[in-house]
Amino acid sequence: MDGRDLVRSVKVVKAVKAIGVIGAAQGLRTVRSAWRRRRADSAGLPARGAERARVPGPVTGVEPGPGGGVVRFAQSELRVSVTGGGAVFWGWDGAGPAPSYALVDQSPEPDPRAELEPDKDGGWRVVSERVMVVISRHGAVEVCTPGGVMLRRELPPRWWEPVGGGPARWVQRSEVASDARFFGLGGRARGPRLRDGEYRLWNTDPGGSFEPGDDPLYITMPVQLVVADAGTHLVFHDNTWDGTVTLREGEEGAGSGHDRAGGSELRMDGGPLRCWVVVGTPPRVLQAWTALTGAPAVPPAWALGHHHARWGFGSEKEVRRIVAGYKERELPLDAVHLDIDHYDDHQVFTVDRQAYPALPRLAADLGEDGVRLVSIVDPAVKGEQGNAVYDSGRAVDAFVRDARGRQVRGVVWPGESVYPDFTAAKVRTWWGGLYEERLGQGFAGFWHDMNEPVSFAAFGEPTLPRSARHDLEGRGGDHREAHNVYGLCMARAGYEGVRRLRPDERPFQFSRSGWAGMQRYGGTWSGDVATGWPGLRASLALVMGLGLCGVPYSGPDVGGFDGSPSPELYLRWFQLGAYLPLFRTHASLRAGRREPWEFGPEVLEHARVALDERRRLGPYLMTLAHLAHRTGAPYVRPLWWCAPEDRALRDCEDAFLLGDALLVAPVLERGSDRRAVRLPRGRWYDTVTGQAYEGPGQVLLDAPLSRIPVLARAGAVLPVRGADGGVELEVWAPARGRTGSGLVVRDGGDGWEVPPVERYTSRWHEGRVVVERDQEGAEGVAVGVEVPVAVRGLGA
Ligand code: NOJ
Repeated sequence: MDGRDLVRSVKVVKAVKAIGVIGAAQGLRTVRSAWRRRRADSAGLPARGAERARVPGPVTGVEPGPGGGVVRFAQSELRVSVTGGGAVFWGWDGAGPAPSYALVDQSPEPDPRAELEPDKDGGWRVVSERVMVVISRHGAVEVCTPGGVMLRRELPPRWWEPVGGGPARWVQRSEVASDARFFGLGGRARGPRLRDGEYRLWNTDPGGSFEPGDDPLYITMPVQLVVADAGTHLVFHDNTWDGTVTLREGEEGAGSGHDRAGGSELRMDGGPLRCWVVVGTPPRVLQAWTALTGAPAVPPAWALGHHHARWGFGSEKEVRRIVAGYKERELPLDAVHLDIDHYDDHQVFTVDRQAYPALPRLAADLGEDGVRLVSIVDPAVKGEQGNAVYDSGRAVDAFVRDARGRQVRGVVWPGESVYPDFTAAKVRTWWGGLYEERLGQGFAGFWHDMNEPVSFAAFGEPTLPRSARHDLEGRGGDHREAHNVYGLCMARAGYEGVRRLRPDERPFQFSRSGWAGMQRYGGTWSGDVATGWPGLRASLALVMGLGLCGVPYSGPDVGGFDGSPSPELYLRWFQLGAYLPLFRTHASLRAGRREPWEFGPEVLEHARVALDERRRLGPYLMTLAHLAHRTGAPYVRPLWWCAPEDRALRDCEDAFLLGDALLVAPVLERGSDRRAVRLPRGRWYDTVTGQAYEGPGQVLLDAPLSRIPVLARAGAVLPVRGADGGVELEVWAPARGRTGSGLVVRDGGDGWEVPPVERYTSRWHEGRVVVERDQEGAEGVAVGVEVPVAVRGLGA
């Protein structure tokens, strides 16, 4: 057991004790299972013996091909190509883009105009419209702007190959500009700017609840978004194995000429060394990234409302009591989530009929008040004959086996469990069909949990043995390769299943674990974020970081997962959550209450304001969801989104842009009723006082308990819900002599209709602000048609 294991085991034991749901028998099982896992791996995985190191060596020749070609070195070869969309791919040792769990299209079209040409000093380069790739004669790969400014240099890699055969470990070091900042790597508890340190690439349930120091968490991705003066780029090492990324920010020598480059080092335990890079402005980079890995799913409109969850409602009666509580107080509520306690004996796809005698009736009654039911879905299946899911899974040989062909058994809530192998198409089809039972119970959405996957372990890693076998789309392999995509493949199974069962509706699904490309199937949430001010801060870091990896829909457990937040902390969390894509109150079995009325009348009134504002912004959030689908732009964006060259914005982690129009500055500290807010260039209006502020710069704003500062960009046009429930335009006056704009995508119901994007501009005309909708006039010429609106911010 190494240090990391020890810390984790202590946390598991603590969590288990705290929860108190695991009795002595379950405790024993976790010990047995940990031993089993250790034995399986010592028998099923070859010991790492002597290794031989290898580097590419000197260049020996080239073979031009579509979009680039192959550069040969004495001891390896490098395939390089630029796609039509401007993304750069390279792969060592013959690695190509496919097969890939991340890519939506397994063979992206090469750019026919990009060609391999000789470069200085015996190197080669590929020049395309948006990017230039330079390959040195020893195998360093530089990605440059078309003008030749270097954004990233990957040094020649090094492999260590076991002498007796087997997967090679490798390391790839890279350099970036001294001013560069790192973001991404999936869902990290600290950030969104990733400081110097080591970040592991192994999806992990941290056990209990997590704080900003905990790493890794449930979603790790070898995706770095790097922002520097010279440009922004995203780099993705398409490899699902365990690894670590070590980041080191550069240093600027304050004009002394002694700048130190920033750098990162990626060490992987195996798998291909292949890489994608996209360059451009942040919006362009996210567009190119989601073109490669898939458009983010658009949630149904109700999923952009307020959700209330709880581990341990315990009964239908309690669910009705909570929903009535919202209704009596006229607080908006759109969904209630049922956790594992509504299962029969914790078994997935079952219902505890004593506590929930008539779920479809409950769902129908809630539906009358516009409240949907969402079901938790855990992947682990109680491994006992007579359990219908187990029996039907066995019939299709669905469960993960070990190297000797026996079912791998782990321990989760239902006790000894088996794990569907979601990396097999037939298993995904079988699993997808099981959602019919859920839909029949009246559930409208799905919350995938414990899919890192978790197996409780008294020691060692709380997951499956690394030697466990997986189908991996027919290629065959083991858990070392499949682990990080387990949640992604489960998400695919659920999403595709629900689509088959309800073809006319957009599925609603979010998943605790996942990998690059998971946005195709839905979103995610923070997981078990610790109740406390650091947890509140981590909530925002996670949402922003994931958005920059292409996963725009997420949010925290408002109030934190465990314990009892103070009324102030609860309210501040609530006020932040109201502006995040997934707005959900949730907590653990033994945690304190999370209903807005449980914290006194003052908190209730302020929470009501946040809930009402959330509802009013519904059409804007829907627009952002559709835009995320079309462009990859996350709803929640760092302040530098449109001004990556502004270094002060790059370092700002406590505020965000919600779409183009709003800047949200949550209160993340106890006892504060004012806060400094950094503004990007231009005029910004405090949406409550109407006061105008000019950016760039920093301003001090009031943040009384009743609200967090939210500013609107001058000239913004955004859709909001009017008093009659219809969509209205909210317009903020542009600064004199300037113009503004806004996009509106009206939701066409929860089906697949693709609504048009409406474009509006705002400008001063003869002493007043006019708003026009851009429309196509005769012969395709754009014309503006004036729309009547009330304009805010005029008196500022
Ligand atoms: C862990 C999840 O992260 C949490 O949200 C859930 O309440 C528990 N599992 C119980 O299902």
